[in-house]
Amino acid sequence: MIVRNSEENIRLGADIIKRGGLVAFPTETVYGLGGNSLDPLAVAKIFEAKERPSFDPLITHIADFEGLERVALIEDRRILKVAEKLWPGALTIIVPKRDIIPSLVTSGLETMAVRMPDHPTARELIRLSTGAVAAPSANPFGYLSPTTAEHVEESLGNRIDLVIDGGTCRVGVESTVLDLTRDIPTVLRPGGIGVETLRDILGDVEVLDRTSLTPKAPGQLPMHYSPRKPLHIVDSPADLPRIRPERTGVLSFAGEGDLQGFAAVEVLSSRGDYLEAASRLFAALHRLDRADIDVIYAQRVPAVGLGAAVMDRIYKASEK
Ligand code: TXA
Ligand code: MG
Repeated sequence: MIVRNSEENIRLGADIIKRGGLVAFPTETVYGLGGNSLDPLAVAKIFEAKERPSFDPLITHIADFEGLERVALIEDRRILKVAEKLWPGALTIIVPKRDIIPSLVTSGLETMAVRMPDHPTARELIRLSTGAVAAPSANPFGYLSPTTAEHVEESLGNRIDLVIDGGTCRVGVESTVLDLTRDIPTVLRPGGIGVETLRDILGDVEVLDRTSLTPKAPGQLPMHYSPRKPLHIVDSPADLPRIRPERTGVLSFAGEGDLQGFAAVEVLSSRGDYLEAASRLFAALHRLDRADIDVIYAQRVPAVGLGAAVMDRIYKASEK
């Protein structure tokens, strides 16, 4: 059931989470499928609802810095250095966990993922419930991430106790996952915060190679974020195949090139703005996936700033 994000409904959601239920809620990145991070049973329900393999650890969402102290060990000075600058925000950090966090949340790892989302509804829900809400993106495993309450309702509605509607997600791609347990801070998943911003704060920052054979973040598994339709990447608009354009959808960055004749065309940002492109990406892929076409061609997006996260998601959408 979708409800609007009134104080009363957020309170209702918080009670559901306290009792071990599941509530989908808006964040600035994508909608999360939330359950009490301190309750292994609630966490198991999340995996079940998503049909997510349990080897894929979850992000614990917190409302404030006291919440961080309660769940994680924060001796490493780099943690507060980066968190105080970028939280609340689209950054998830990997840090050593405290015992209060069940190992199901972290898939047995001694480290955990933690994030303070930049959305008043999310933080209020976390604060009013248990202060620690485990939440993956609110989509079935491997499918596109949701950026509206309707996306959630369509794919998971009957498996969740409540969907809180907070409108369209502002950022539109998931948070950047930064591993601070390594000597050199390492981006495991590109996302809403660019690596340039991280380097300004932390100095040297590595970016895990997507093709690495032993992904540390299962979000790195290529089959994530896939539409059901086959999606292929083309380098330039000129490479768009003209075979059966009436059965073909195009995902275009800025609408450049000749897009006449294609059955469905989604332009991410006609002014070539990466932020706008990121915020529209998943909704555009959802529409293409529902369109009466056989195949999607996505034009390559320059990997600058948020463009890197957009391209990463397009790349993953292309894998089957
Ligand atoms: O923007 C987001 O991050 C959204 C919203 C709801 O906050 N959440 C989200 O969660 O994208 P999810 O579960 O789809 O992605 C979590 C990522 C995965 O790639 C997971 O492998 C990684 O974080 N992760 C979690 N715990 C980890 C750990 N201890 N070490 C390494 N990676 C970890
Ligand atoms: Mg996800």
